[in-house]
Amino acid sequence: MEKTTLVQHIRKQERQTPLATGEFTELMTEIMVASKIISNAVNRAGIGEDIFGITGQTNVHGESVQKLDDFANCTFAKIIGQSGTVCAIASEEMEAPMIISAEENPGKYIFMMDPLDGSSNIDVNVSIGTIFSIYRKVSKGSEVTHEDLHQPASQQVAAGYVIYGPSTLFVYTSGEGVHGFTLDPSLGEFFLSHPDIKIPEQGSLYSINEGNTTIWSEKQKQLVSWLKGQEPGSPQNYRLRYVGTLVSDFHRTLLKGGIFMYPADEKSPKGKLRFSYEAAPMAFIVDQAGGDATDGLKRIMDSQPNDIHECTPLFIGSKKDIEISNKFLSE
Ligand code: AHG
Ligand code: MN
Ligand code: MN
Repeated sequence: MEKTTLVQHIRKQERQTPLATGEFTELMTEIMVASKIISNAVNRAGIGEDIFGITGQTNVHGESVQKLDDFANCTFAKIIGQSGTVCAIASEEMEAPMIISAEENPGKYIFMMDPLDGSSNIDVNVSIGTIFSIYRKVSKGSEVTHEDLHQPASQQVAAGYVIYGPSTLFVYTSGEGVHGFTLDPSLGEFFLSHPDIKIPEQGSLYSINEGNTTIWSEKQKQLVSWLKGQEPGSPQNYRLRYVGTLVSDFHRTLLKGGIFMYPADEKSPKGKLRFSYEAAPMAFIVDQAGGDATDGLKRIMDSQPNDIHECTPLFIGSKKDIEISNKFLSE
C-alpha cells in the first residue's frame, strides 16, 4: 500500500487550495516536529528523562503543573513561536497569551493549545495527548486583539490532537474531513493510517466520570441512568469506558461512536474542560466526522468564549447520542 506522509497529505490539500501561501503547511509541519519531541520524551520517561512528577507550580486553573506539562508547553511555544506563521499562542499552561512581536516575524495564525492533556495519567503510563486549535487573525493592523483571541469555534482554520499511547497518533482536520497519521518511530515519520474518519451515527459506549454522580444535576443523573438501562424504555447495550484523558476518551468515541460527557456539576458549575483548547478543537473534529458537540444545550461550534481559559460543559460524540442527551438536558 502506498504510504502517504502527513506533510505530503497537507501539501496535497494546499495545492487544491487557491491562494494558499504554504504558511499553513509550515505551521502544521512545526506542530508535527514538536509532537515528535514530546512523543520521544514520553516514551523515555522514567529512563533518563527526568519528566515525571510535579514542578511545584500551579497553573491559571490552580492545577499542579507536571514536569511534562511544562516541557510540552515550552517545546510547542518555542517551536511554534519561531515558525514565523503565528502572531499569538494561547496555552492552558500560560496565563496570558504569548504575543509574537513585529521583530520576531509574526504570521497570520493564532495558535491555541493544551500542550499536555491527561496530566493525572502521566506517571501511571496511561495514554496522554496534546490538543491544538488554529484561527486566522481577523483584526486589522499588527496588534493582536481580544477579538482575535475569542473567536467562534466555527472560525477555526484547523484543529487536531496527538495521542502519546501504544502508538503516537496525529489526528487533524482543516475542514476537509478528519485524517489520522501514525508515527513510525524507526523513520520519525507520520504515515496516513486513518483516512477520512467518520463517527458512527449512534454508538453503545458512554464515557463520564461516575465518581461525580452525587454532584450532577437531576437531569444529568437521569440521562446516565437511562444510558445504563435503568429507566423504562432505556437501551440495554450501553457500556461505560473512561480513561480520564480527554484525547483518549474522545478518540475512542470518534472511532467507535457513543458519547463523552463532562457536565457541569456542583464542584465545577461551568464544567471542567476548557472551551478554547479542549472543547472547540474536538467539536470541529467531530463536526467534520459527522458527529456533534454541545455544552448540554448549545452547539460548541456556534459558541465563543469571553476568556481564553473559560470552562464549558462538554457533550460530544455520535449525532443520535447527542440528540438523546439534548432531549434529557433540555426537558
Ligand atoms: P489536563 O490534563 O489538560 O488538565 O486535562 C485533564 C482533563 C481531560 O483530559 C479529562 O477528560 C479530564 O480532565 C478528566 O477529569 P477527571 O479526572 O475529573 O475525570
Ligand atoms: Mn486537557
Ligand atoms: Mn493540559
